[in-house]
Amino acid sequence: MKNILVTGGTGYIGSHTTVELIGQGFEVIIIDNLYNSEAEVIDRIHKITGIRPHLEVLDLCNQEKLDAFIKKHKDISAIIHFAAYKAVGESVNEPLKYYRNNLLSLINILGVMKLYGIPNLVFSSSCTVYGQPEKLPVTEDSPLQPATSPYGNTKQIGEVIIKDTTHSNENIKAISLRYFNPIGAHPSSLIGELPRGVPENLVPYLTQTGYGIREELKVFGNDYDTPDGSCIRDYLHVVDLAKAHVVAVKRLIENKNKKNYEVFNLGTGNGVSVLEAIRSFERVSGVKLKYRIVGRRPGDIEKIWADPSFANSELGWKTLSSLDEAMKTAWEWEKVVRSNKL
Ligand code: UFG
Repeated sequence: MKNILVTGGTGYIGSHTTVELIGQGFEVIIIDNLYNSEAEVIDRIHKITGIRPHLEVLDLCNQEKLDAFIKKHKDISAIIHFAAYKAVGESVNEPLKYYRNNLLSLINILGVMKLYGIPNLVFSSSCTVYGQPEKLPVTEDSPLQPATSPYGNTKQIGEVIIKDTTHSNENIKAISLRYFNPIGAHPSSLIGELPRGVPENLVPYLTQTGYGIREELKVFGNDYDTPDGSCIRDYLHVVDLAKAHVVAVKRLIENKNKKNYEVFNLGTGNGVSVLEAIRSFERVSGVKLKYRIVGRRPGDIEKIWADPSFANSELGWKTLSSLDEAMKTAWEWEKVVRSNKL
């Protein structure tokens, strides 16, 4: 049985990935500082899988503590590194907080990999590295644009740090996964996205509005150069996204990677507008959503969706869930969270 270290494993994508890893027979160790998640997520992973992964509450920026922990767990086959701050708006106001946390944690992870001979890394990157692409859909070869937020910049710099490390050290292999917009929750409704305070992202805002926690959803602009004027994204089910991590980790462990450092886009290949997402929510929930068109949100990309064909052919991975299916799980999760049934 292979041991996988998942950083940020109690978070949104990390918890879903842990469930999929356990389902595929991996042993998972989680490191998380619980900055944006709850330790109870471990209980729920246990409920879903029947297995309770070890949770080490540890801040990855603390090199000494990380070092001491890894020293005791030298049999780790791969690290999946999710742990990071991710609020775009906050990163603009507090850039140092973002650069310090997201980059130092990554550097420390790569440091222990080198020191203790851990050979494989899967990194959470983002389609934010493409900015507003000139050509759509976006392939992995599309030019990267200067980041529009410190958060986005930490993903770009993070990719460079990993690339340089794999080039300088042939014992370290890595895959960066550039996520498009993950949404939805596990079909058990035991884990899902749990934003603290007012959500920044569309789908949690949408489901909270549907439930009556928010008065109305503000649609940020309907004057974009898109068919209905609202922004377009590529929304993928978080369980599909989680499965891609298992495939990526296996590729590295089984030495099936073609280069020491590889990058994959993870999306559905379908562009969906904000207004289409609202209609999907209304369809699956039966709830009429209160929304209002307001001005554009500064820094928003007009339209972006993935060309996932490289991930399809090379990883043998593709998304299986439709927008409606993913939206339905987001709605079921919202209802479970609000009715205190967790
Ligand atoms: N939107 C609204 N109203 C809201 C929230 C969002 O209309 O209340 C719109 C946005 O304008 C955008 C779309 O819904 O057009 C999606 O917005 P999100 O905030 O959900 O997602 P983004 O694509 O803007 O950002 C996401 C991640 C970031 C990441 C970025 C690019 O949240 O972490 O994708 O990868 F940087």
